[in-house]
Amino acid sequence: MTDLPVRMTAIGISSPGGPEVLRPEERPVPTPGSGEILVKVAAAGVNRPDVVQRKGFYPPPPGASDIPGLEICGTVVARGPDATSFALGDRVMALVSGGGYAEYCVAHESHALAVPQNLSDAEAAAIPETLFTVWHNVFERGGLTAGETLLVHGGSSGIGTMAIQLAKAFGARVIVTAGSDDKCAACVKLGADAAVNYRTQDFVAETKAATGGKGVEVILDMVGGDYIDRNYEAAAVDGRIVQIAFQGPSKATVDFRRIMLKRLHHTGSTLRARSVADKAAIVAAAGKAVLPLLAAGRVRPVMDTSVPLAEAPAAHARMESSAHIGKIVLLV
Ligand SMILES: NC(=O)c1ccc[n+]([C@@H]2O[C@H](COP(=O)([O-])OP(=O)(O)OC[C@H]3O[C@@H](n4cnc5c(N)ncnc54)[C@H](OP(=O)(O)O)[C@@H]3O)[C@@H](O)[C@H]2O)c1
Repeated sequence: MTDLPVRMTAIGISSPGGPEVLRPEERPVPTPGSGEILVKVAAAGVNRPDVVQRKGFYPPPPGASDIPGLEICGTVVARGPDATSFALGDRVMALVSGGGYAEYCVAHESHALAVPQNLSDAEAAAIPETLFTVWHNVFERGGLTAGETLLVHGGSSGIGTMAIQLAKAFGARVIVTAGSDDKCAACVKLGADAAVNYRTQDFVAETKAATGGKGVEVILDMVGGDYIDRNYEAAAVDGRIVQIAFQGPSKATVDFRRIMLKRLHHTGSTLRARSVADKAAIVAAAGKAVLPLLAAGRVRPVMDTSVPLAEAPAAHARMESSAHIGKIVLLV
């Protein structure tokens, strides 16, 4: 690490609050520990959990950086003890448990993938959080297979746009919900077979109509609240519902008889709190299945906006406006 600076610029959260609390700060360049790499960050993805953390409701797990940012693309500039998977100078995209909004960031080497050459830094930074979340929840937990139908709530989100592409790439049909006709059109352009404007249409009725009354085999839900009961209605017999977030209340009144009558499975997970080994297993499996699709251009992150690191407040404001379609990225 001899040629590396000792200090760096990062975006800190000065106190819980609005986008304006994201401020440039000088911080020490982190030191990679056992099995870790130090990455000179070229771009960092912005995710909804960063917004929740900024507001003070999603504290970093023990040991994680308090700097926001869960995914990065950049160049390996140092390796900790026992880190052997990448060489200095390698271009990687990595899932991190925090610290992405910075000039340098530490990642566990087993949470990083080599970046396919056809992807820009911004595109690569937009991949890890969405790819690993979708892979684990839709395919590993939800068990989506070719020929089945996936309902994705929030189809135009960073997560949703990745889910549409992966489900289509693996031979499933996709129905999405989104909050405007423009967002619905963007989802259909990306490959969704049907899109439901949840502000003007009933997704249960539309889902039934699009599946000949059968319902969908898998639902990826980031909304919760009254969607939980309606998801049970929209699901097919033996359907799997995977909960990854709540936009509103996490409590609901639900008619659980459908769980018995339709033999439903309702599960969920959150990526950030998983062990190093759990995340490594997800990264390895997703990398094996999806890197070839990324390299071939068959899956490509949908990019909304890229702004310089110092404009992190504007990036958060855009995410909170919900005007975005796809990913927002900070360029370092
Ligand atoms: N569990 C995990 O491991 C994990 C990991 C990463 C992210 N997440 C969660 O996944 C969600 C998406 O993350 P992101 O970074 O992609 O954020 P994002 O782009 O801001 O996505 C939020 C989405 O929720 C949609 N939405 C809000 N109310 C809705 C409703 N009533 N019906 C349908 N859709 C609705 C929004 O759509 P409209 O704008 O059209 O309303 C928007 O597309 C976030 O809640 C995040 O916290 C979970």
